[in-house]
Amino acid sequence: MYCVGEMIERLRKIGIVPVISLPSVESAIPLGESLLAGGLACAEITFRTAAAAGAITALRIRFSDLLVGAGTVLSTRQAAEALDAGAQFLVAPGTNPTVVDFAHERGAAIFPGVATPTEIELALAHECEVLKFFPAEAIGGVKLLKAMTAPYRQVQFIPTGGIEPGNLASYFQIPQVAACGGSWMVKPEWIAANRFDEIERSAREAVALLDSIRNR
Ligand code: 3PG
Repeated sequence: MYCVGEMIERLRKIGIVPVISLPSVESAIPLGESLLAGGLACAEITFRTAAAAGAITALRIRFSDLLVGAGTVLSTRQAAEALDAGAQFLVAPGTNPTVVDFAHERGAAIFPGVATPTEIELALAHECEVLKFFPAEAIGGVKLLKAMTAPYRQVQFIPTGGIEPGNLASYFQIPQVAACGGSWMVKPEWIAANRFDEIERSAREAVALLDSIRNR
């Protein structure tokens, strides 16, 4: 049976959530192969392209060891499509209570986006305790997140937006950071040019960096 708690624990262990907009369903398999070859067993496929649902299904069928989520889920229609496709978690840039409640009714994990204390409280009121801190760098980065974690000790965050190798370590200094999201290791131009070798290399570097941060 599907267990949200176990999935979140898996996500915490992986620590990095690659955020990917795929131009075609065909690119899903080479993407999954390159992420896994680089040691990064997670993919958040955004609903910014028409390929999202098909790509999620393809990844779920092919790779049992890849944790596959849906990103940029803005409506209950997209949430339903994502879950029907096999998404193991949903991510949204903001906190839409209708979408959050729908996901929970379906027994699914959703990480809604928050940028302010009021939004955190809205998400808490809808029983979400793992939240996307978005857009992390643009709204104040580590300084803002540190200040916001103080009153909300039970909340875990997935900072996303403007995160790259140079600032990754600073986010993991905050104990409530469960994972960090980003697109730096899955650049759209690499996918467009079929440079999956670059994705594998970049994923491997990201995993090595995270290991070194966690073992400090
Ligand atoms: C996004 O929604 O685009 C993600 O948060 C990724 O942000 P990034 O491209 O700045 O890593």
